[in-house]
Amino acid sequence: MASQAPVVLITGSAHGIGFATAQKFFANGYNVAISDLNEGDIETALKELDPSGDRSIGVKVDVTSRPDIEAGVAKIISRFARLDVLINNAGNFRQGATETYSDSDWDQITSVHLDGAFKASQIAYPHLKKSPAGAIVSISSIAARVGLPKRASYNVSKAGIEALTRTLAVEWASDGIRVNAVAPGFTESRNMKDLEDKGLTTPAKLLAAIPLGRFAKMSEQAAAIYFLASIEASFITGQTLVVDGGTTIDIRI
Ligand SMILES: NC(=O)c1ccc[n+]([C@@H]2O[C@H](COP(=O)([O-])OP(=O)(O)OC[C@H]3O[C@@H](n4cnc5c(N)ncnc54)[C@H](O)[C@@H]3O)[C@@H](O)[C@H]2O)c1
Repeated sequence: MASQAPVVLITGSAHGIGFATAQKFFANGYNVAISDLNEGDIETALKELDPSGDRSIGVKVDVTSRPDIEAGVAKIISRFARLDVLINNAGNFRQGATETYSDSDWDQITSVHLDGAFKASQIAYPHLKKSPAGAIVSISSIAARVGLPKRASYNVSKAGIEALTRTLAVEWASDGIRVNAVAPGFTESRNMKDLEDKGLTTPAKLLAAIPLGRFAKMSEQAAAIYFLASIEASFITGQTLVVDGGTTIDIRI
């Protein structure tokens, strides 16, 4: 029998913004599928999210692999008999100057962000179509809108996610599926810490680029993602909500 509560699948949700998003949906009554690369990380996340295990499931999914996504979605359907919301969040990062960036680095970024969002959306589609309120929210970045140097594969992938969002929103509107994106700015996360640890940036440099004068909390990204997936956003489709404390609209002169 189909579960009464709606079900959300969040890719790359054992950590970071994905996990904060899982917590947000869980708190709002959804059954939550945590999906990521590593079984141990998924188990740890599930224990923190839902110690009883009644309203959650773990699925080990590499979003670059179509069979992995198909098996993950099949597992969710066999447990909850429905899938209402897909959050395309899985992400990785590899910085490098374009003139020496390897094909393999390029492929490793685009295959996760862009190809992963395409494949997961396509595989989720027949189930979202059956939902009374099917929705997809994909995670873009301010990198889609500005020419952040040494990040071509990432910038292009995120711009592609926004184009995919608009396209699917039109294609699947008649199926009752809304498709939107959130473009986070600089957010307190291990990604940000990693950039700092590698000496690629400093908190002071980043803070200078944020008019609100602080980093976003992961829960603030999760709130925007949840809003776009929820009934509160029932007439919004094909849009990207930028959650960046003003970074991309700031020209300080
Ligand atoms: N942190 C920021 O400031 C920021 C800003 C803009 C956009 N974003 C985007 O937000 C999303 C989440 O990033 P985060 O900062 O929480 O990073 P994070 O590294 O904490 O989380 C990313 C998750 O994706 C998983 N992942 C990586 N490759 C995968 C694959 N092939 N299949 C499945 N899962 C995979 C990782 O294991 C990890 O759990 C990403 O799409 C990122 O590009 C983050």
